[in-house]
Amino acid sequence: MKAKIAEKFKTLFGVDGDFFTSAGRINLIGEHTDYNGGFVFPGAVDKGIMAEIKLNGTDKVCVFALDLDEYVEFGLKEEDAPTQSWARYVFGVCREIIKRGGEISGFNTVFAGDVPLGAGMSSSAALESTYAFALNYLFDLKIDKFELARIGQSTEHNYCGVKCGIMDQFASVFGKAGSLMRLDCKTMEYKYYPFHPEGYKLVLVDSVVKHELASSAYNKRRESCERAAAAIRKNHPEVEFLRDAKMEWLAEVKPEISEEDYMRAEYVIDEVQRVLDVCDALERDDYETVGQKMYETHYGMSKLYEVSCEELDFLNDVAKECGVTGSRVMGGGFGGCTINLVKNELYDGFIAKAKAAYAEKFGHEPKIYDVVISDGARKL
Ligand code: GLA
Repeated sequence: MKAKIAEKFKTLFGVDGDFFTSAGRINLIGEHTDYNGGFVFPGAVDKGIMAEIKLNGTDKVCVFALDLDEYVEFGLKEEDAPTQSWARYVFGVCREIIKRGGEISGFNTVFAGDVPLGAGMSSSAALESTYAFALNYLFDLKIDKFELARIGQSTEHNYCGVKCGIMDQFASVFGKAGSLMRLDCKTMEYKYYPFHPEGYKLVLVDSVVKHELASSAYNKRRESCERAAAAIRKNHPEVEFLRDAKMEWLAEVKPEISEEDYMRAEYVIDEVQRVLDVCDALERDDYETVGQKMYETHYGMSKLYEVSCEELDFLNDVAKECGVTGSRVMGGGFGGCTINLVKNELYDGFIAKAKAAYAEKFGHEPKIYDVVISDGARKL
């Protein structure tokens, strides 16, 4: 990938630039908890975005997206926003840096990536983090790593229409080879957990489906959670986020909120606790409990939070039938991958069965990605 980027860069701009990269992510457990002030447990992966960049001394940004074979130029003022959705990520990062007082000017860049699109592995966070990290470095802005992550998150909110939490950008910026990270999204405290489950593999099974309107459905989930938290807060003022609520407190407001909001909140309150349970289980190398919690998350995401789909429920059932230790839909949902914790000796059988059964039912095979937990944003 680096050689291809370098070749294109030289052809387009006639010089060489600096290389930067950032990663996509997995999440072991803790889904839709980040914007509820809860815990998440992600790690960066060995698939990401790579960019070559050189300042060009103008006020124009010239970007070539190698995988799409598309070139876009834009200025750095708010009214210069490009229309191409991929370019809005780069533009958004520039704008969010400027809004924070960062003094930047134009640059030339070519980027490419190998994070599967729509797989729920956050290619967009990898793109944002690559440019946030690179511009911070090249303009010597001295922005700290949390703020780099927030720049990516604000880009999603303000330029891409997704009111996401902080998990993806955090993972992409803070990722460390061999370690998962538990992040408390309320206090922003985090801890690295070396993750080498002996006798098990982590594997993603990609349904290769992406359902329409995922971002508006995502934003609706967030609104449900905020309504439920606001209702609980009337009785319990200490509840800033759903993460602070107890199930009994949710029960108190059942008559006041919609059934749908109730189900969403029920899932979140359980899921926050599941992350803590998984951390305890990991301290004891108790992977059976980790796996059981993953199945519970799948059930919640499917039946209460309603962000799974037929394809992902099917893959989850296949995992169960094959004796896979843990399996669940990963990321925002509405398509994408399941993440599976599989005993080494069951791995081959599970993959063969998942491919065959899925192809028979849906007419195409799922894609399989072995998880390698890797470093996050950096200069190459
Ligand atoms: C998407 C969002 C994250 C998070 C997950 C669900 O990936 O970008 O902030 O909410 O969905 O856990």
